[in-house]
Amino acid sequence: MALAEFLAELDDLAQQGAEAFRAAADDQSLESARVRFLGAKSGRLKEVQKGLSGVEKADKPAAGKRFNEVKGLLEDAFEAAQGRLAAQRTSGPGVRQFDPTIPGRRPRLGRLHPLTQTIEDLKDIWGRLGFTLADGPEVEDEWHNFEALNIPADHPARDPLDNFYLAAAGVCAGGAAGPVRLLRSQTSTVQIRVMEKTRPPVRVISTGRVYRPDTADATHYPMFQQIEGLLVDTRATMADLKSVLRLFAANFFGSGDVHIRFRPSFFPFTEPSVEVDMSREGGWIEMGGAGMVDPNVLSAVGYDPEKYSGFAFGLGIERICARRHQVPDIREFYKNDVRFLHQF
Ligand code: FA5
Repeated sequence: MALAEFLAELDDLAQQGAEAFRAAADDQSLESARVRFLGAKSGRLKEVQKGLSGVEKADKPAAGKRFNEVKGLLEDAFEAAQGRLAAQRTSGPGVRQFDPTIPGRRPRLGRLHPLTQTIEDLKDIWGRLGFTLADGPEVEDEWHNFEALNIPADHPARDPLDNFYLAAAGVCAGGAAGPVRLLRSQTSTVQIRVMEKTRPPVRVISTGRVYRPDTADATHYPMFQQIEGLLVDTRATMADLKSVLRLFAANFFGSGDVHIRFRPSFFPFTEPSVEVDMSREGGWIEMGGAGMVDPNVLSAVGYDPEKYSGFAFGLGIERICARRHQVPDIREFYKNDVRFLHQF
């Protein structure tokens, strides 16, 4: 084959191949152009290459050089077309561009349990009202859970059926019985522990778990949490008690139109004793118990009841939290269902 003829074929191939790659509008047409021109078995480049053997020996170097040039040209044209189609995929019409100014998606982080959130708020509000935080153990002795709180040995509140008594240390091993211990049934125990350690004026709150063998229902749980408040000073009155509870409720529920109602009640450690209700937008909500610290309690911790008076209150945290978030059943707080917990 004459050199000129071979070179003409190569030129024709280069022109048609480059044109086909340029014209390919999608991956499929680009692939069929590749097979047609660059295909390893029967592509046109392969066909033209066969003509090389027919070129005069003296012309072979020039023919081979041009062949390699055309091969390179076609491969470049193919790659350019591939790049063009890839760019179209990420920037064509209807393709959403990456926008670095759009705020990132917040990952599903954990959060505080609603009861913990409520306890934090309670501490914060009472702290601002001048009450400091006190603490006491969950495993208590009878003095702090009963006697010092004016609940004598024969009082029905000490019935084993109404309390979680713990097996006395040493009894099982056949030794001498240790002091009677129980899981505290109320945070009022902390009143005694604080007064035993400090002199008036006293102004404390304490939050924590308490235990009663109550059957679980929408408003009861055998383990629940209370917030206890205690103020002792020379002139504390029921009016002061009502004022601070009202201030607290207005702060906690975030509405100005809050009222406090006292209903007569009985607790061995307060006299008079009341149930505290709160009204907000109409209905009355029970918050807990309260009253003036009984003189017997003041005497039990060595305070002079002639000189000092005080008030105390104990509120159920699950019920307060449930009211705040319109949760109809306090058992939800202890199911640990993340679908429930993620709402708070
Ligand atoms: C007392 O526990 C008293 N210590 C409160 C008190 C403190 C009175 C200081 C006077 C002075 P009571 O048993 O009513 O009171 O419980 C107080 C609150 O705890 C109730 O109003 C209720 O909100 C909550 N509560 C009681 N039992 C349960 C229970 N089983 N589950 C959930 N919450 C409960």
